[in-house]
Amino acid sequence: VNDLLSRMTLDEKIGQMCQVNFPLLSKTGSNESDIRDYGLGSLLSGGGDCPVTTNSVKVNTAEAWADMIDRFQGFAMATRLGIPMLYGVDAVHGHNNLYGATIFPHNIGLGAMHNPDLVRRAAQVTAVEVAATGVRWTFAPCVAVPRSEYWGRFYEGFGETAELAAGNGAAAIEGFQGSDLASPTNILACAKHFAGDGGTAWGTGRDGGMDRGNTVLDETAFRALHLEPYRAAVTAGVMSIMVSYSSWNGLKMHANTNMLTGVLKGELGFQGFLVSDWGGIDEITPGNYTNCVIASINAGLDMIMVPGEYENFLRILKQSVTNSLISMSRIDDAVRRILNVKFRLGLFERPYADRSLLSRVGSAEHRAVAREAVRQSCVVLKNEDGVLPLRKGIQRIHVAGKNADDLGSQCGGWTISWQGGAGGITIGTTILEAIRNTVCPTTVVTFSESGAGAAGADVGIVVVGEAPYAEYYGDTQDLNLSGADAAVIQNVKTQGVPVVTVLVSGRPLVI
Ligand code: BGC
Ligand code: BGC
Repeated sequence: VNDLLSRMTLDEKIGQMCQVNFPLLSKTGSNESDIRDYGLGSLLSGGGDCPVTTNSVKVNTAEAWADMIDRFQGFAMATRLGIPMLYGVDAVHGHNNLYGATIFPHNIGLGAMHNPDLVRRAAQVTAVEVAATGVRWTFAPCVAVPRSEYWGRFYEGFGETAELAAGNGAAAIEGFQGSDLASPTNILACAKHFAGDGGTAWGTGRDGGMDRGNTVLDETAFRALHLEPYRAAVTAGVMSIMVSYSSWNGLKMHANTNMLTGVLKGELGFQGFLVSDWGGIDEITPGNYTNCVIASINAGLDMIMVPGEYENFLRILKQSVTNSLISMSRIDDAVRRILNVKFRLGLFERPYADRSLLSRVGSAEHRAVAREAVRQSCVVLKNEDGVLPLRKGIQRIHVAGKNADDLGSQCGGWTISWQGGAGGITIGTTILEAIRNTVCPTTVVTFSESGAGAAGADVGIVVVGEAPYAEYYGDTQDLNLSGADAAVIQNVKTQGVPVVTVLVSGRPLVI
């Protein structure tokens, strides 16, 4: 690393610190050569961004991903020093932007399993599928400690205690990174969002919600709740950490020198690199981007998820260094950390996708692990009148509810698209299909979304709950089951059928 660093120009160094969302390489899709010309150190796919043809038609196959990323890598390898770029995605519950990938429950479900070993295995499976497409970095695990069900990212955390985030987060990191980052089936993990993202108060976030808001806590409480998962993550060897949009006691985390440099890199001895969140530095002093760049880099950020206006970012960063507003030693520290990770990933030796892994994407073996996770993540809230477990050989089951036969709603946000979506968005098994596949041959399964026709069934299974959502759009203070959902339950009940209600949701609901 030191040898390479000693041969790099300032332009080459700051290029390493710049991460660009690939569709923003240019508005027309023809500026991929900017990867070479600006020596960009990293690229990403934001939520829902997949390969496209020159006419912007999506081609969301594993092979197309590998082709695209290899093409980008070709430009990086054509730079003067041939430094490979590092590609990142939000593989937060499987390689979830990719059609046909194995999808796992979100972290809130995994936390409910109380089985870190299975979390580790899920991360291993995800690592293989991600690596198959030429991606060697996931922005996961989210080790937020969500303290309010109103937050639209509640489900991205493992649970409301620091212990759940620490134990499961460490397991996920071990699963992604393995014991040797250079193994072709291991990928770089990224603990996020440092820190206090789950503690924000309603009304302090975007548009009066809580996403990207302010966490008000004294230092002892903040450390106990929100810092502990990072101590565990660093101990588990995490080599990248993403900084949170949120503030702590009014100070933006992206500008918090004491927390980023003092605590994380100093006290906890974090050896990896820090990446900003998407446009996160822009919020430090809105309207004064120069100050945003200076404040964030000086606070300890090593790589900036710009994610679009990279020419502007690079110009300002360079100018700030030549004006001595950012020291050369700070730049060298940032680049040293990034290069160290690239070397450890074996990217210099093997910059391109390992195509032999492609056949494992969405494989039966991987789906078996996901199915086990789904099973263990189910939580029985109450069981009155011994309605559960269902008897084998039962004569007729009536299934109802809007989420019974809806794969997309079952998967939630961050699936194929950023916010997720209802319907047949990818390959998988709906709850109705699973019931049909599982019952005895003599059991009849009937279905109606409204519950009509349930009369005479031995049991009704009503699958209701939330529609998919993700950050910002998912913020709400209304946690009630919708009137329409309640009406379906009521409908089955009034036909004299015992009811099992299944909630598909990203958070607890008032039922
Ligand atoms: C989210 C991060 C995510 C990033 C890239 C941000 O808006 O807060 O969790 O990793 O986008 O998609
Ligand atoms: C991207 C996400 C990102 C978000 C940030 C979206 O357009 O797809 O990945 O997290 O913007 O606001």
